[in-house]
Amino acid sequence: MNLINFKDMPLKKKIVMIAVISTSVSLLVACLFFVMYERLTYPNIRLQSLSTWAQIMGNNSTAALTFNDHKTAEEMLKSLKANPHVLSACLYDTKGKVFAQYKRDKDALGYFPIATGKEEAEYSMGSLKVIRDIFAGGERVGSIFLETDTEEMKSRLENYTLITLLIGLLSFLISLLVASRLQRYVSKPLRQVVDRMKDIANGEGDLTKRLEVSGKDEIGDVAEAFNAFVGKLQTVGEMKLDLISVVSHQLKTPVAEINGFIENMLEGLTGEINPRQKRYLQEMRLIGRENYRLIGDLLNASKIDRGVVTVDLKPISAKEVVTMAIRDYEQILEQKGLRLLLEGMEEDMKLYGDRDKVVEALRNLLNNAIKCTDKGTVTIRLGSEGDKGVIEVRDTGIGMNGETMGRLFTKNRVLGKEAHRSGAGLGLYISKHFMMLQKGDVSVTSEEGKGSCFKLSVPKMKKQEGAAA
Ligand SMILES: Nc1ncnc2c1ncn2[C@@H]1O[C@H](COP(=O)(O)OP(=O)(O)OP(=O)(O)O)[C@@H](O)[C@H]1O
Ligand SMILES: [Mg+2]
Repeated sequence: MNLINFKDMPLKKKIVMIAVISTSVSLLVACLFFVMYERLTYPNIRLQSLSTWAQIMGNNSTAALTFNDHKTAEEMLKSLKANPHVLSACLYDTKGKVFAQYKRDKDALGYFPIATGKEEAEYSMGSLKVIRDIFAGGERVGSIFLETDTEEMKSRLENYTLITLLIGLLSFLISLLVASRLQRYVSKPLRQVVDRMKDIANGEGDLTKRLEVSGKDEIGDVAEAFNAFVGKLQTVGEMKLDLISVVSHQLKTPVAEINGFIENMLEGLTGEINPRQKRYLQEMRLIGRENYRLIGDLLNASKIDRGVVTVDLKPISAKEVVTMAIRDYEQILEQKGLRLLLEGMEEDMKLYGDRDKVVEALRNLLNNAIKCTDKGTVTIRLGSEGDKGVIEVRDTGIGMNGETMGRLFTKNRVLGKEAHRSGAGLGLYISKHFMMLQKGDVSVTSEEGKGSCFKLSVPKMKKQEGAAA
């Protein structure tokens, strides 16, 4: 694991890792000190007990030394065989001459230090050694030397190391378990904040909802600050919607009037117009209609966002819807040299929906198809699928890739590869809402470079609805 990986690691894992590492390191250091202390102090404790033992043995051998009884002294030393850790032992007389001796390994080249009359205890070369003087009636009668191996110390140290490792492993597992359970108190509320932030940044979050503040810690502070921030965003959003709806409402009437005047002039109601004036007026009519549509889109989108769109469901004629929708597009179709084909118009299919809203949705589909097609045809087909009437708009235009299609019906402005073909990016968002409100839908299939096919579906009129109308 390097530092970069650690930086990119999810917070959950970081918390668990920090807890586990710090627990393990502190425990390891504590154990290390413990083992070191044992290593330093234990030899002294052993030497002390060896010294006491030597003294007891020395006391037991005063008679043998006093009466110069080598045999008894040898016998007594031999009894040390019972303890396999004793390497050697020796009794000296007052002059320091060996009086009796014992070697665990007969062949060992054991040496016996010359009894100097000085009491000594030493831990060296893998063994513990003591020399003690022996007194009888206050008079020194000799001395005793005892040597043991350090196997006991070694195995004790090994046991300590093993126990330390086991404790380390156990505490590692326990801290892993505890940290994994506790980390959620930090990571979960933070994850919620981050998810909400992402939703809002992507324009998908509901600004009326607030985060649950889980505590009074820093994460709670972040959640509270974020809620306050969302509150401000909501207010700004509402102000924006109000502004859009007021402005678009105010603009709609004058633009409609201008369009009316242009229409009157083109129809000759204001007197003769020459061919040049006619061309200009026709251009103005297209621009005026597009502006009117855009203002309508803004107004509709703000109504959808405020949740004030209602539908007026009635029996409607699919043919009539198509006729109303194509009315404004004949001129532009002609200008672009596109052919409009109508299919399935023979039968007058009856739908049950909001006529104006279906017309509005179809107009947007037509507008898009014409914008995105440079040559070929735009086909409107009426058909039915189950209990739904279908109005299909198919074009031979630029088509779309998967990414554009994924965002088509959201308010996230969709820009195709050719930005000049894009408008406010609200058309399909509005169409989707309008259709859903009347239990219909808009769907799409498309192939880049070949064309697109949008489908509006509206519930077909049932008999009792027809009778009620
Ligand atoms: N028939 C189509 N062929 C290719 N691309 C399309 C087609 N219809 C829609 N698009 C793509 O989807 C985008 C979104 O369409 P939408 O109708 O929602 O918005 P718009 O047309 O850009 O703006 P508005 O409808 O508000 O004027 C378009 O800009 C275009 O990139
Ligand atoms: Mg559009």
